[in-house]
Amino acid sequence: MRTPLIAGNWKMNTDSTSAAELARGIAARAAEVPGVELLVCPPSAYLTLVRDALGDAAVGLGGQNMYHETSGAFTGEISPAMLADIGAQSVILGHSERRHVFGETDADINKKTQAAFAAGLRPIVCVGELLEERQAGQTAAVIRRQFEGALAGVSAEQIATAVLAYEPVWAIGTGQVATTEQAEEVHADLRKQLTERYNAEVAATVRILYGGSVKPDNAGQLLGQPNIDGALIGGASLKVDDFLAIASASGGVTA
Ligand code: 13P
Repeated sequence: MRTPLIAGNWKMNTDSTSAAELARGIAARAAEVPGVELLVCPPSAYLTLVRDALGDAAVGLGGQNMYHETSGAFTGEISPAMLADIGAQSVILGHSERRHVFGETDADINKKTQAAFAAGLRPIVCVGELLEERQAGQTAAVIRRQFEGALAGVSAEQIATAVLAYEPVWAIGTGQVATTEQAEEVHADLRKQLTERYNAEVAATVRILYGGSVKPDNAGQLLGQPNIDGALIGGASLKVDDFLAIASASGGVTA
């Protein structure tokens, strides 16, 4: 049984006022979606402010990225220890914007994934193909390479606590959502890789989120697929109504 996870990646959006308002709005309505795990990932500048605005509500807090070292001369970076220290439980790693805008490699993402486990953070490890790769029939190979690369050396015990996210790059911020068949095919393949690399029990535990233009009107269909266990939401996570509507569409705990 996998509890749906609905995660908001706020990216580099909001300001101190709107971040607090958004967090308070989600916190106030979290009880409307029982059986769904809610998570918000604000910009790092607003993590503590959002933590305080969430208060005791059942809404998790996550970072959008981090460096793999604990501390030191790494100007501009935020460490796993810092995220844990301010009360974040999760961290998004290997997001396509980190890969393609900032040049992160599978090896970088692997170091970060290991560092997240070491700091007691739950990594949400993202994979996803470019449009050219899909058009060239390379989707499965790209996803396998990213899966292997990001998770090198990760044990079964560790992966059982992690979350995977499939975000086709061409669907992010474009309004061009993957079809349920396209998404489910990749999710099922990721589940198969988890079974092959680890075991069936672990594969049945790990949640695999879909991300890329998830909106209230397409969420139900996507989240109804057997291997889609939640959503990683960009634009629609900045509106309380849309975020909660997507959470509601996940239908709560499924068998
Ligand atoms: P959009 O929902 O805005 O397409 O963004 C998806 C995403 O990148 C979430 O991490």
